[in-house]
Amino acid sequence: MRMDGKIAVVTGGATGIGAATALKLCELGASVAVLDRNAEVAEETVGTLRERGYRASFHLCDVAVESRMEEAMAEVVDRYGALHVLVSNAGIQRYGDVVSTSAKVWDETFDVHVKGCFHATKFAIPAMLASGGGAIVIVASVQSFTAVNNSAAYVAAKHALMGITRSVALDFASRNIRANCVCPGAVDTPMLRGTAEMTGSPEKLIQTLGRMHALGRIARPGEIANAIAFLASDAASFITGTSLIVDGGLLVPTGGMGFQESGIGTEGKG
Ligand SMILES: NC(=O)c1ccc[n+]([C@@H]2O[C@H](COP(=O)([O-])OP(=O)(O)OC[C@H]3O[C@@H](n4cnc5c(N)ncnc54)[C@H](O)[C@@H]3O)[C@@H](O)[C@H]2O)c1
Repeated sequence: MRMDGKIAVVTGGATGIGAATALKLCELGASVAVLDRNAEVAEETVGTLRERGYRASFHLCDVAVESRMEEAMAEVVDRYGALHVLVSNAGIQRYGDVVSTSAKVWDETFDVHVKGCFHATKFAIPAMLASGGGAIVIVASVQSFTAVNNSAAYVAAKHALMGITRSVALDFASRNIRANCVCPGAVDTPMLRGTAEMTGSPEKLIQTLGRMHALGRIARPGEIANAIAFLASDAASFITGTSLIVDGGLLVPTGGMGFQESGIGTEGKG
């Protein structure tokens, strides 16, 4: 899984899963460019990487803005001379069913997740082709296969990312570019903490979410970063167009953990 000499872009790399991924890729030997719209936090994240002796840089970029993505990718290639890895991770959480979701919120959600990923792949792939090939990892979700209530735009956007993954994988396989997605369950990041705060009893929500995962807890960002790094590395050289579910067993039990807690299957035990 070593990535010495590799140049990587991580979108949304200021916090959460993206920041953990930037660190992991650096630890494996890559140089990492963080693209994010939150300059203050991203500068801090990149500063910490540099203090540890890693090669890293911050490029201000709203992934929803095509011209800015094009410029930011050009900055990365100018700075490092190549591009081998793209982690398309930037995301936002928005709530509402299809009736209560405004067109503005729908567009905002799709602009960041879907158009953001379109822009990132659109401008990363030519640079990868010029570098002899590369690997793309798109951060999707368990909500790429399933739905949770009151999250219509987010669920639909995460489903769309599966389509981008498969299209890119198919269209560029012959030119040495692989594309896969990682589908996390609940992960302890600022995004999830923000959602938890909305409930008024955040710790209770985190614990409840933990119980829904077969492993009995939510993920640490570094655990998702490990899966992303694997798919981005040459260790995954024959893996393309697929999705890796990293959910602590969230999707395993029929009917969710509540079904297990009902006591079914205990009859006759002992
Ligand atoms: N946390 C979870 O439970 C969870 C579960 C499944 C999937 N995900 C997905 O993982 C990804 C990362 O989420 P996270 O939990 O680390 O969230 P987070 O809020 O901690 O981090 C998201 C990052 O994306 C950046 N960002 C948001 N919009 C942007 C834009 N328009 N342009 C550039 N940067 C932008 C933010 O500034 C931030 O640095 C998201 O795609 C999210 O949907 C998260």
